[in-house]
Parts: sequence; structure tokens; C-alpha cells
Amino acid sequence: MGSLSLDPARSMWELIDGLVDEATATTPVILVDVHAEATSEKVALARWLDGRVTGVVGTHTHVQTSDARVQPGGTAAITDVGMTGPHDSVIGVKAELATHRMRTGMPVRFEVATGGVRIEGVLIECDGASGRATAIRPVRVPWP
Ligand SMILES: [Fe+2]
Repeated sequence: MGSLSLDPARSMWELIDGLVDEATATTPVILVDVHAEATSEKVALARWLDGRVTGVVGTHTHVQTSDARVQPGGTAAITDVGMTGPHDSVIGVKAELATHRMRTGMPVRFEVATGGVRIEGVLIECDGASGRATAIRPVRVPWP
């Protein structure tokens, strides 16, 4: 979990190397979900882990980014995989409720929207023995 605009109990930078070492002892194929608000933190973590994990995929911002890539060390990365859920919304919440809260500053009970449901994510291909990625493709079904 990132630190910018969020309030994690501990910094991901304190924990990530130990978690990756622990996972590496079990499997060569390791996927890291970096749950963060700031694109800079997600890109920085992907660079930090390049060559040590199979993929670093961002979540939390809900909007699929167009930067899917395999980095030089063989770690696939994308800043945000997108959202599986109702896209006729404000990142999943009924738009009128989200905009009312933003416009007025008053608390509103959020309700999940129902329209425009899509599956979003990524497909990562990798070498099963080394765990290094060979390709990453964004997925969006149905395509708009
Ligand atoms: Fe989140």
C-alpha cells in the first residue's frame, strides 16, 4: 500500500524486500499488487522490483492505464489494471452520489452503480522456471 494520499500502518518500502525474499523461497512466479493513489509510487516500485518478480500491477485508482510494459529485467508492469465493475459510475459508485459529496462536502452513503459492467485487468505471460515476464496485455471486456 502506497503512502501518498493514503495512510498505511507501515511504509511498503520497509516491507517489500522481505516479502519478495519470502515469496522467492516458495515460487519463481511472483505477482505484486501495489495499492496506491500516486502513479509515481507505483512506477517507482515496479522499477525497484525489476528482475526480482514476475509482475507489479497497480490498483486503487480504478482507471486502466496505457503503460503496460515488460521492463528490462523481465518484470511486467502497469500503473493501474483498471476496474472490474460498473463503469457507468464514478469508479464504481453511483455518479449522482459521488458528485453530490464532492460538490457539497457533505457525507453521503455510497451505493454501488449497476450500469456498464466491464471486466478489466491484464494477462501476463512468463517463463515458469525463471518467473520472468515475456509479455503483458491489458484486458477490457467488452471493449468500449
Ligand atoms: Fe483502494
